[in-house]
Amino acid sequence: MSGVHDNSGAAVRADAARLLARVVFDGISLRSGFDARAARSSDPRDRALLSATLFSASRWWLRFDAVLGRLLERSLPAKARQIHALLVIGFVQIEMMGMPEYAVVAACVDAARLLGQPRHAGLVNAVLRRFLRERQALLADVDRDPVSLHAHPRWLIERIRADWPRDAEAIFAANNCEAPLTLRVNRRRCQRDELLARFASSGVAAEAPVHLPDALVLAESTDVSRLPGFAEGHFSVQDGAAQQVVPLLDLHTGMRVLDACAAPGGKSAHLLESADVALTALDVDAARLPRTRENLQRLGLTATVVEGDAARPEGWWDGQPFDRILLDAPCSASGIIRRQPDIKLHRRAADIAPLAAIQARLGTALWPMLARGGKLLYATCSILRAENEATISGFLDRHEDARALPLHERLGRAAGVGRQNLPGNKGMDGFYYALLEKAR
Ligand SMILES: C[S@@+](CC[C@H](N)C(=O)[O-])C[C@H]1O[C@@H](n2cnc3c(N)ncnc32)[C@H](O)[C@@H]1O
Repeated sequence: MSGVHDNSGAAVRADAARLLARVVFDGISLRSGFDARAARSSDPRDRALLSATLFSASRWWLRFDAVLGRLLERSLPAKARQIHALLVIGFVQIEMMGMPEYAVVAACVDAARLLGQPRHAGLVNAVLRRFLRERQALLADVDRDPVSLHAHPRWLIERIRADWPRDAEAIFAANNCEAPLTLRVNRRRCQRDELLARFASSGVAAEAPVHLPDALVLAESTDVSRLPGFAEGHFSVQDGAAQQVVPLLDLHTGMRVLDACAAPGGKSAHLLESADVALTALDVDAARLPRTRENLQRLGLTATVVEGDAARPEGWWDGQPFDRILLDAPCSASGIIRRQPDIKLHRRAADIAPLAAIQARLGTALWPMLARGGKLLYATCSILRAENEATISGFLDRHEDARALPLHERLGRAAGVGRQNLPGNKGMDGFYYALLEKAR
């Protein structure tokens, strides 16, 4: 390939453009695409650049795609969609990642050749250089539209503004920040202070937040499987907001507990780390169960892991009531956009009503499986009222034997009978919690 320097920066950008084009135009998930690609890359610096580039470019796609629209007289043909992605990557690396401008231009030009599109190398060069000259005016122009300014789709901007009028701008900003890497210490295997000391002696900087008894927040993102204690099951990756779920269930030794939407097992593991309970970890998605089993095994925990539909108990339930049920429901994931920025590109307004209907159906189907005096915790990583307080208030209207238990204000804003942590609050993800008790 003549004219291409020996430039691993160009190769990483070409890889990023291939993958980003698939995320944006084919709708594949950023996380699964990245995991598959990163597994093939042996150089940790290349992996880190690929990850930072892909996540930033997905996060800011809506803003810099608008910039590209201003710079091209005609949109690029479908066969040049990797070039389209490469140009957005170039803008994002220059403007949002603060990378050296002319090195980015040179590497993107080489990347166009590596993508087998040498005829577009000149276009990449010209467009990126024009961006360098005119960026202030271009950004001022596109940012008059909130879709570009906040890099969120219009429907979601409207929805968040309607649901959280006073917090909307802060939510958009939090969604566009990188999330910290938070671990949950497996208290069956070690103490938090012990792990903190072990990390410190290996040069891994971490903090122990006061409001989360099992958490360590790492100063920098890293490959957790290389951290001391990972193979021995001393910790798992879990955001702080998710770590607040299990303590609400008030577990006691010997209880029968159902985790109705369990995969990949983050909260199942936390349940088992917290008390000696008999846990059924259920999930409808067979493909997610091997990972659930692996996670439990690494942590030294035992559950009955079952494939089944929570709304059709006849296939898997033995008829014995559960003392506690966790319904960590499928949702829009609108509270974890900072971790999965492609949600902004893939979710549609039309997805919300069907999700709310599934959430309501799951709650109704699970309620008869709860023992009298038992508790069901409803949780989502959504910040949309339609999936949270509306689901729960509809449920309470239909179930006279259900009452909501008060939740402490440290869990977030009052939202109906539940609590809502908004994204970025105390450094955590957006999360909703509602705790229901069944009459005796
Ligand atoms: C938010 S994720 C659960 C995360 C998990 N609780 C954890 O902490 O690791 C939602 C899960 O619900 C599962 N799910 C969706 N519909 C279901 C159903 N009808 N019955 C059981 N599981 C379901 C999905 O397969 C997905 O794994």
